This record gives sequence, structure tokens and C-alpha cells, in this order.
Amino acid sequence: MKREGEKLVALTAYDVLFARLVEEAGVDIILIGDSLGQVVLGYSSTIPVTLEEMIHHGKAVRKGAQESFLVLDMPFLSYQVCPEDALRNAGRVLKETGVQAVKLEGGTAATCKTVETLVRAGIPVMGHLGLTPQSVHALGGYRVQGREEATAERLRHQAQSLEDAGCFALVLELVPAELAGEISRSLSIPTIGIGAGPECDGQVLVLYDALGLNAGFRPKFLKRFADLDVEVGNALGLYVREVRGGSYPGPEHSFSRDP
Ligand code: KIV
Repeated sequence: MKREGEKLVALTAYDVLFARLVEEAGVDIILIGDSLGQVVLGYSSTIPVTLEEMIHHGKAVRKGAQESFLVLDMPFLSYQVCPEDALRNAGRVLKETGVQAVKLEGGTAATCKTVETLVRAGIPVMGHLGLTPQSVHALGGYRVQGREEATAERLRHQAQSLEDAGCFALVLELVPAELAGEISRSLSIPTIGIGAGPECDGQVLVLYDALGLNAGFRPKFLKRFADLDVEVGNALGLYVREVRGGSYPGPEHSFSRDP
């Protein structure tokens, strides 16, 4: 698709019903993101997310999206300790969930060695550079990465190193648009942007953000493609009023003894 100049469309999903809707919408990649820590489990970052939680949600998404290409985020500390540990954990993910690939964050020499180990074992790996949420404390917050030349140069180098290590695609998160475009043109693997401008080879968003379900979250890069928080609020308010007022359930929603 990159060679043909076709954009790759990716979205996250965490459960069976939304996975089905995302698959039916025709996206190219469904990501079971560790963003599930914040948007599903109520954690304040992705750091507490466990491998068990990722596997639990990965299985659900596979049930809803049986035809899709699924990528699952390796959570914090499931791949950083050593390549052998990463291989065992990524192997578990593929065996137990049925996803086709994993994603991991960072581009240091140690991360590239881990990528090589997984790829050699037949596990496709997506990389993730820029704002890498599992390192939020080291990065000093959720802020754009690569504005200074030294950081930009590090990102260019790490992107190439991840391609050389065998990644099949690379997420660029919160990176200036010019830099993301430059990296995208320099790589032969596709880049998938989030907060990285229009020149990446594809785009990913957190599903609930795209649907406007996450009321308080309105970063500059986000477009809300619906306002489901309002829709859901209206529907739930109606339900509460109808049950309290006695109009639901009515005879049309009730069973009689005589079929
Ligand atoms: O966890 C996630 O959902 C992600 C995307 C934002 C790329 O990593």
C-alpha cells in the first residue's frame, strides 16, 4: 500500500462489539492498544497494564474481528527486561489471542535487539517512536517529541534502526509533521501517525477518542468523528425517564403465557 501511495487506516479496539464495527468499517489494522489502561480500565497511564489484561482483551477483539489484521501492544515490562523474556511473552500473545503481530515502544539498541529476536522467531513487530506513553515519566509528560534537532536526529536514527531490525511498520506519535514526513519518506516500511501530521503512510486513533466518547480528552491532533458522549448521555437519560415513568417496558416488550 505504501508503494502504491494508499493510506493505511488503523484504529484501536478492546472488545468484541466494537471490534466487529471496526472490522465492518474496513480498517486495515486493528490495534489492541495498551491505551485500554486509560480508556477501559481507568488507570492514569498505560504503565499499570498487565500482559494478562492485554491477552484478555486481545481474545475478545479476535472474536469480533475474525478477518482483520490484529496488532497487540506489549505492555510495560513485558519486553524490556531481556529479549528471551520478550519472546516468551510475545509468543504467549500470539498463541492465546490469535493476533498476527505485536507492537512495542522505543528504538534503542536494546529494543532493536528484542525486535530482531521476535522477528527471527516469526513474530511480526510494529515499532512505536516519538511520544512513547510507557516512558511518560522519563519524557516529562505527554508532549511533542523531536522539536529540537538533537531529538529529531535521534528519532531519524531510531526509525532506521527499527526498520533494519525487521519492524514491518512504525507508529509515530506526537511528532512534528515535517519530521514525520521526512522519516516516512526515508523508510521503506509504512509509518502510521497519531499526532504526526498528514505525511505519514497511515493514521491510527484511539477508537473512543475518534467516536467522541472520551469527553475530557481534546488534544489538538484529535478529530472527533462523532459526539457519542452526547448520544449515549441522551439515550441513557431516556431509559432512566421511561423506566421511572412506567412507559418501558410496555406490552410490546413483554411475554405472555400463551405464545
Ligand atoms: O495504545 C495505543 O492505543 C497506541 C496508539 C495510540 C498508537 O499505542
